[in-house]
Amino acid sequence: MHPALTLQPIGHICAPKQLKFQARHQPAEADEESSVLELLPGHDYEQALADLAGFDRIWLIWWFHRNSNWRPLVLPPRGPAQRRGVFSTRSPYRPNPLGITPIRLLRVEKRRLILGPCDLVDGTPVFDIKPYVAAFDAFPDARAGWIDEVDAALAQPGRFTVELSPLANTQAEWLRTHWDIDFIPRMLELLSRDPSPHRTRRIKRRSPELWTIGCGAWRAVFGLRDETVQVRALETGYPMRFLLRENYEQVPDREAQLAFLALWPDQPGATLPE
Ligand SMILES: C[S@@+](CC[C@H](N)C(=O)[O-])C[C@H]1O[C@@H](n2cnc3c(N)ncnc32)[C@H](O)[C@@H]1O
Repeated sequence: MHPALTLQPIGHICAPKQLKFQARHQPAEADEESSVLELLPGHDYEQALADLAGFDRIWLIWWFHRNSNWRPLVLPPRGPAQRRGVFSTRSPYRPNPLGITPIRLLRVEKRRLILGPCDLVDGTPVFDIKPYVAAFDAFPDARAGWIDEVDAALAQPGRFTVELSPLANTQAEWLRTHWDIDFIPRMLELLSRDPSPHRTRRIKRRSPELWTIGCGAWRAVFGLRDETVQVRALETGYPMRFLLRENYEQVPDREAQLAFLALWPDQPGATLPE
């Protein structure tokens, strides 16, 4: 048994995302946003950064510091609701909570690295930086096990037909025209692929006949017949009594939810008969 290794962060990330659920699962290259790695003073890190500016990309090795536990089996956000061994995933719930990200390096400014989009939340401690070297690090033809299978399934058209009831259609149209809120395309994509309960896709069973899917601050209630998903109604994610509470002003789409509840106070999807 080796002794434990103590690591000290070399710096912290300043990134636009404060909450874990806002951060990307992996950096999205198309995102415009940038992030900054600010290295700590007093450690000669300015010298350690010499010669890095010529690299387009660097590896960050960092701490999932917002997590305190790990799980041997985890439920990946994409693909079927199937748990996978954590070592076959990039899940943050690992025995040693280390993340790796090959991030775009835009500029080096003394102890500050100006970086492209990232999947770290603001304030994440970083332990190490290494140059990304395509000749060592990129193997585009390497198999990716269950992830290849999920990608192949996602490339196929969805297996389920999704129908919106007249009520759900009216509600969706009202949200679009009055509030510029439109989660329907993403909801259709998810439901047409797989409407079965899933934690990260926020699909839950509400009763023997009804399921719900969470879409941001909203929910849709649906039933299932053979291979057809019938969306009965849309609902607010929060009930009126929460939306009116003090300290709930920051709830996403709060004004729209209040206006929605004024029009459809009964959240009828929950009780519609078969
Ligand atoms: C799927 S992990 C992948 C991380 C890294 N690219 C990797 O492959 O090791 C990315 C997720 O980690 C979560 N995350 C980001 N920063 C975190 C932090 N400091 N502590 C805990 N979770 C974090 C966010 O939810 C983000 O979507």
